[in-house]
Amino acid sequence: MLKKFELVGKSLEEFQGNRLEFTSKFYEILLTVHPELRRFFNNKDLLKQKKMLSGLLIIISRRWRQPETLASILRRIGGNHFRYGVKPEYFTIFEEVFLMTLEIQMGSNWTEEMQQAWSQAFDEMIEWMLEGYEEEKNQTRSAATFVLRHKFS
Ligand code: HEM
Repeated sequence: MLKKFELVGKSLEEFQGNRLEFTSKFYEILLTVHPELRRFFNNKDLLKQKKMLSGLLIIISRRWRQPETLASILRRIGGNHFRYGVKPEYFTIFEEVFLMTLEIQMGSNWTEEMQQAWSQAFDEMIEWMLEGYEEEKNQTRSAATFVLRHKFS
């Protein structure tokens, strides 16, 4: 587990570029290549969005040695994404574009080893997000069933 995050954590610790510039580029590419995702951000403050993603990158760069802490943060974020109406398959799109942006940003410093490390770490992060997502979905369903049972029984 730690091995999976080591290169990712270290590359973020040593990240020389501007994180906000990176996340801005990321959203620009994401919403250009996948205009169908724009509806999620229409009424959102995109600068806040970019800052929140930068914040997550800072957390990963500080916490990659503590996978349980990362897991619990990502489960909570995953649960929030159920409430935003994000479909699970969109997480893979997010990962693809994130890796593409990193590759563009890193230029000749981007290696096959980094590609693999980032891809494995991102898969793990998405798994944690999906755990929180499913939990939130089940809780919402139980709450809705409870209300409906009282209304219609
Ligand atoms: C692995 C993939 C993703 C990561 C790591 C991620 C990360 C984050 C973070 C850190 C936040 C702020 C904290 C929170 O609200 O819980 C956030 C909020 C949000 N994300 Fe994501 N996200 C991902 C995928 C997506 C996708 C695919 C969409 C939509 C297509 C999306 C739409 C949103 C929206 C609408 C917000 C709320 C913004 C607000 O409240 O102003 N996210 N995301």
